[in-house]
Amino acid sequence: MQELAEKTSQATADFLPLNGTDHVEFYVANARQAAYYYRAAFGMQLAAYSGPETGNHECASYVIQQNKIRFVLTTPLQPDNAIAQHILRHGDGVRDIALWVDDAEAAYRETTARGARGVRKPELLQDDSGEVLVSAIATYGDTIHSFIERRSYRGSFLPGYVAVTEPDRVARPVGLKYIDHMVGNVGWGEMNQWVEFYEKVMGFRLYQHFDDKDISTEYSALMSKVMANGNGRVKFPINEPAEGRKKSQIEEYLEYYKGPGVQHIAMATDDIVATVAKLSRQGVEFLRVPATYYADLERRVGKIDEPLGTLQDLGILVDRDDEGYMLQIFTRPVEDRPTLFYEIIQRKGSRSFGKGNFKALFEAIEREQALRGNL
Ligand code: FE2
Repeated sequence: MQELAEKTSQATADFLPLNGTDHVEFYVANARQAAYYYRAAFGMQLAAYSGPETGNHECASYVIQQNKIRFVLTTPLQPDNAIAQHILRHGDGVRDIALWVDDAEAAYRETTARGARGVRKPELLQDDSGEVLVSAIATYGDTIHSFIERRSYRGSFLPGYVAVTEPDRVARPVGLKYIDHMVGNVGWGEMNQWVEFYEKVMGFRLYQHFDDKDISTEYSALMSKVMANGNGRVKFPINEPAEGRKKSQIEEYLEYYKGPGVQHIAMATDDIVATVAKLSRQGVEFLRVPATYYADLERRVGKIDEPLGTLQDLGILVDRDDEGYMLQIFTRPVEDRPTLFYEIIQRKGSRSFGKGNFKALFEAIEREQALRGNL
């Protein structure tokens, strides 16, 4: 009974119920080639398309998927529009972290009433496969959150897109299952403002936090707070730079992305050894930590199922907390600007974010920053 009462009060408290991440839309300079990269390297499969051939003369968009992970890669067809402006300023990057809701009208109403800046009023999109209601609000930098209400839409993605039905001869799936979390970098002193945004405007709560004592090396320092929505399906860590001796990786990001934006997307797998081995063979480049990391790993995390030698060969990191352990690895940035990168993660009981790996990782990132002349 008490449990039921708690559930009820939780349900009424959650003014923004989310079913999960619907998709992530990137604005990129060449969507056809970016789609090839994500298919051949990361194993995404082409699912839908919108462009001049389908009557869209403003942009071309490729929808690529792997299990529950869905990306949309969009490129402008002319220079004088908002998509082209976004790319000119930020380079390739995430424009929209779109959230799947049952009521896009209420999501818009509740968040804008609490101070969100609306960027798209609820709009009904329709085609032969049914209808989808879409609205959107602004978050950090030029990033937005769309709310997608699918209303049992039967099409491949959204009205206006055509399904790609022929088998994808480029895609080489690697077992990536779903998005575990997506991290935003914000400016100096702005972390708490965005934590408050996710709390007050979107009904998220503080899930975990790390300060500069947890996350600092000689040069890099950052502070991070992890925000989670009511049912815990959506997690957004927010980073801000902290004072260090030299330029931190967050500052480097802000300088090249020209402001706040998505720093990394963590994608989960059930078998990180197989996934990372395949990604490496397919050309995905990972950050490497020194061999000394593995020398005292067992002392730090205790017994684990995976052979340490294999983890070392692949560069996979391990961290443990009181609930279990997790394995993770980070790619190098996937653009020439040192901005967006990916994390591959496998959770074995642990719900944390790899705090014990921060120091080794930051030192690896700093070696790359130094090579770029940005330290
Ligand atoms: Fe992460």
